[in-house]
Amino acid sequence: MTFRPLAPMALAAGLALSGLAHAQKAEVIHWWTSGGEAAAIKEFAAAYTKAGGTWVDTPIAGGGGAQARTVMANRTMGGDPPTAAQYNYGRQYEEIIKEGLLNNLDDVAAKGNWDKLLPEKIKNAVKVNGHYYAVPVNLHNENWVWYNKAVLAKAGVTKDPTTLDEFFAALDKVKATGVTALALGGQGWQEGITFRGVLLAVGGRDLYLKTFKDKDASGADFRKAVESFKKLKAYVDPGSPGRDWNLATAMVIQGKAGFQMMGDWAKGEFVNANKVAGKDYGCFMAGGPKMPYAIGGDVFVFPKGKDKDTAAAQKKLAELMISPAVQVAFNNKKGSIPIRTDVDTSKVDICAQQGVQAVKENRLLQSDNELLSPDAKGAFEDAVSKFWNSDQSTDDAIKAMAIALKR
Ligand code: BGC
Repeated sequence: MTFRPLAPMALAAGLALSGLAHAQKAEVIHWWTSGGEAAAIKEFAAAYTKAGGTWVDTPIAGGGGAQARTVMANRTMGGDPPTAAQYNYGRQYEEIIKEGLLNNLDDVAAKGNWDKLLPEKIKNAVKVNGHYYAVPVNLHNENWVWYNKAVLAKAGVTKDPTTLDEFFAALDKVKATGVTALALGGQGWQEGITFRGVLLAVGGRDLYLKTFKDKDASGADFRKAVESFKKLKAYVDPGSPGRDWNLATAMVIQGKAGFQMMGDWAKGEFVNANKVAGKDYGCFMAGGPKMPYAIGGDVFVFPKGKDKDTAAAQKKLAELMISPAVQVAFNNKKGSIPIRTDVDTSKVDICAQQGVQAVKENRLLQSDNELLSPDAKGAFEDAVSKFWNSDQSTDDAIKAMAIALKR
């Protein structure tokens, strides 16, 4: 896939990015440990090294990032902060802002014109009380479905499903060939993604917002989503519990499974395996091409440090991460789309085109990370996971989900 910097911008950025005064160390905590993720973050490290700094990589394994965020919180609260740390868009870092532990980036943002170059809804997602406390680095959407084209061809699935019924029909066909129809990593956060994909497919933006904004788990559509979610279990192999997301993606890449419901970081794995969108693998949004695009992806925050050099290293990191050339190099590998609107997206692959289009059409949707407190989101995913992994009744599951939303 090929995002390209617009030539004059790249040149200007190259000139504007001066080196650091000396080889300042920057320790960066993140959870990008899969093949595609590791390849992507190397682009940030390379840019920082090229600017004269020393990148100290602190990867904390665990897809979805809960483990990395715990390390970051403990270290920052305990007085041993890293230079920078990864979070998702939304409310995950509001506590450390309240505690006064983060530097804000308003001067870097003003210098880099972030107010102009970021899509409006991204700006809203990333600003807290009018200040930039984080640099956004990409736009991911978690509600994608990936598939192996050869597996589907063999099963006689000839077009992308656009409704839940069509999706179930396609799953049936793949299952009938003896291949695992749906590759799922059985971890709470992945089951959560699967549930939200189904929720969107059943009721689109309205049902999503009714659930996560109004915190209302009542009604026929919500029940249908809960039932349809559980119905997917019949298509998942017994090896699912505990499986990492990228291993589920590998099943699709290798033709051991038909589909995976997962964010477009999965595309980073296909890219890393030299697979081509539209040839080796396909993609569609859960619920069809005009679905709202839930704002997902990553930001970096910069804790206050002990020595005076820290702030300079942090400003340089933020400036580099959002610069046009680095945005292009990083996002080409990450599977996400660049967060700035001034890079050339005319040549992007068929999956990324849908994201670019969603931004153009302003189809971006506040995600549950933005709408729920981290506590409520965790409780909701626990309820989803319990339902998936037990014989709990639909009624009891809905009750538990409703309680979780109100936390
Ligand atoms: C992040 C992605 C990451 C994925 C799996 C998500 O929360 O936004 O950047 O690739 O988790 O680790």
